[in-house]
Amino acid sequence: MENGFTKTILVTGGAGFIGSHVVRRFATRYPQYRIVCLDALTYAGNLENLRDIEALPNYAFSHTDLLDMQALQQVFATYGITDVIHLAAESHVDRSILSPLDFVYTNVIGTVNLLEAAKKAWQGSTDGRRFYHISTDEVYGALGDTGFFTETTPYDPHSPYSASKASSDHFVRAYGDTYGLPVVISNCSNNYGPYQFPEKLIPLFINNVVNGKPLPVYGDGLYTRDWLYVLDHASAIDVVFHKAPLHSTYNIGGFNEWRNIDLITLLCRLMDEKLGRAEGESKKLITYVKDRPGHDRRYAIDATKIKQDFGWTPAVTFEQGLAATIDWYLANQEWMNHITAGTYRQYYETQYANR
Ligand code: NAD
Ligand code: TYD
Repeated sequence: MENGFTKTILVTGGAGFIGSHVVRRFATRYPQYRIVCLDALTYAGNLENLRDIEALPNYAFSHTDLLDMQALQQVFATYGITDVIHLAAESHVDRSILSPLDFVYTNVIGTVNLLEAAKKAWQGSTDGRRFYHISTDEVYGALGDTGFFTETTPYDPHSPYSASKASSDHFVRAYGDTYGLPVVISNCSNNYGPYQFPEKLIPLFINNVVNGKPLPVYGDGLYTRDWLYVLDHASAIDVVFHKAPLHSTYNIGGFNEWRNIDLITLLCRLMDEKLGRAEGESKKLITYVKDRPGHDRRYAIDATKIKQDFGWTPAVTFEQGLAATIDWYLANQEWMNHITAGTYRQYYETQYANR
């Protein structure tokens, strides 16, 4: 026990979309844990995502890059890290097509650095410790019209993003098998909700509808994704962190498949209602554009194992989650404006100047 805390959990990528929800959940639900949020604050990291919890006595922030091995080792030593929840990554498929090496550096080398730092720090004993790696269903490749990804589906990544995540999963398992590192992995489907960077489909389209900009639908729009509300992903991460046996893998999803064009049509209808626009107004913004190269046709998670083992299921339906998400973006247009204007990057300097 360090400083009265029963665990000191390093959450990497905590200033990003999913990471900020994980940090918030753990810091508020578990005052007995110290939560150390580590983030390099790339374009996707935004400390405004954590403004409401940054004064909590069990929260700390470390501005550290996973590629800086010495700094990583220092973080483990300074805080006495007992557990890791690893979310930091380059996460956008389109960016991975433009700059694949950035994905190799952070997702592959950064993950190996983190594994090394944990191995070194915990070499005396790994009792009660855990290295929990957050991954994606995209490592499994693409499905046809039927079938689901299970925990034993062979890896078949197609984009530089999914290839880098697949590689990081292999390294995590290799550290478990070779060095006995206490690892656990979960692979989740597409997330949506508050604080998602507006390069991903749902926040991008909400923002474009608000501003009357075109909605760029890739290819024929018949690609299928399995959507999970981010707070449900955070609750699943909580369950897996506390209950999953070491060296196990869990798939996380809500059995909630949507073809892109159907989702976009629903989103447009809800936006018309919420913005008081005539029905069909937002749909007029739909513009079919050139397809993404290597675009995976369909993802669908079989989340039976996490339900059977721990009774976990999502708390909200897609309609509830999407409506709550739209409401959040409409109520937080300042957050969006800071991102589109780039001023969110100044927050760190002003907030942490004297710390
Ligand atoms: P995000 O892009 O919103 O956030 C990533 C965070 O990692 C950012 O805060 C960024 O600053 C930080 N980061 C990037 N490079 C870093 C580095 N070198 N060192 C330290 N920090 C660095 O991503 P997200 O959507 O929140 O995804 C989080 C994790 O969940 C990722 O590992 C992703 O692969 C996985 N995942 C995401 C989804 C999804 O739909 N978003 C679904 C399944 C799994
Ligand atoms: P995205 O949010 O980038 O997630 P991922 O590629 O990791 O699944 O995209 C979700 C789906 O939406 C995917 O099939 C690509 C499609 N898409 C568009 O049609 N237009 C867009 O502008 C974006 C960003 C995505």
